[in-house]
Amino acid sequence: MVFFFFFLLKLVNHGISHELLDSVEKLTKEHYRKCMEERFKEMVAAKGLAAVQSEVGDIDWESTFYLRHLPTSNMSEIPDLEDDYRKAMKEFAGELEKLAEQLLDLLCENLRLEKGYLKNAFYGSKGPTFGTKVSNYPPCPKPDLIKGLRAHTDAGGVILLFQDDKVSGLQLLKDGQWVDVPPMKHSIVINLGDQLEVITNGKYKSVLHRVIAQTDGNRMSIASFYNPGSDAVIYPAPALVAKESEESQVYPKFVFEDYMKLYAGLKFQAKEPRFEAMKTIESTVNLDPIVTG
Ligand SMILES: *[C@@H]1O[C@H](CO)[C@@H](O)[C@H](O)[C@H]1NC(C)=O
Repeated sequence: MVFFFFFLLKLVNHGISHELLDSVEKLTKEHYRKCMEERFKEMVAAKGLAAVQSEVGDIDWESTFYLRHLPTSNMSEIPDLEDDYRKAMKEFAGELEKLAEQLLDLLCENLRLEKGYLKNAFYGSKGPTFGTKVSNYPPCPKPDLIKGLRAHTDAGGVILLFQDDKVSGLQLLKDGQWVDVPPMKHSIVINLGDQLEVITNGKYKSVLHRVIAQTDGNRMSIASFYNPGSDAVIYPAPALVAKESEESQVYPKFVFEDYMKLYAGLKFQAKEPRFEAMKTIESTVNLDPIVTG
């Protein structure tokens, strides 16, 4: 069963065992209670967030930590992870990596690109970057004034989200309206980032989404990002750019890590100015291989 939400879809028959998903969820919630909850409460108290009177635009009501799996794992360096949690996350990441690669080939098929085109486009010199953001959205007394996570599109490639099976909060913008992406046990929500919009020349679009904090219930969200390698050169697939088209090219060509540097400061703004800024950089740098001898 596959549910399409515009360009975002929910996968139920993803091949990842329910047993593994259940243990990832259980261990993530235990880890939050043991290692993260106190720290989050201290942050809220220090910033006076529970008593704000007007909209907060520069902070999110979330508790997070990050793991990197590719090109090299840093899981062994993450403090406070119990062995069984580390082991479950490692297995989970391996399954998601396979799923992301299958999805890239599914996109190739849909776009009539040769099999492997997108995987190669992401490769760079060291292979793709793959990482996980583990988040919890604790109960929030002022959800109208502080977002769980402010609206943004993701910068990268394929995003695979395993979210809480009970507590909702994720919304995406569809035809100008915010639409809930409700919890569904054992499903993986797939979203596409800005890089796939560029490479597919806009045939697939990155989707604006946000998290509304809830007044009760703690929402778990484990988002894994299958992204290009840092030195991968990103540009629209020539086969998807109409040859006879007179209109100016919408999407730029750039090195992925340069996009990420720009994104770091502009994540919560519209993507179009990011694409424009990359075009300006493109026109001043030569990205073609340097021919020597
Ligand atoms: C592991 O990698 C992630 C993603 O690059 C990074 O955010 C995190 O700080 C790293 N953790 C450690 C302990 O090195």
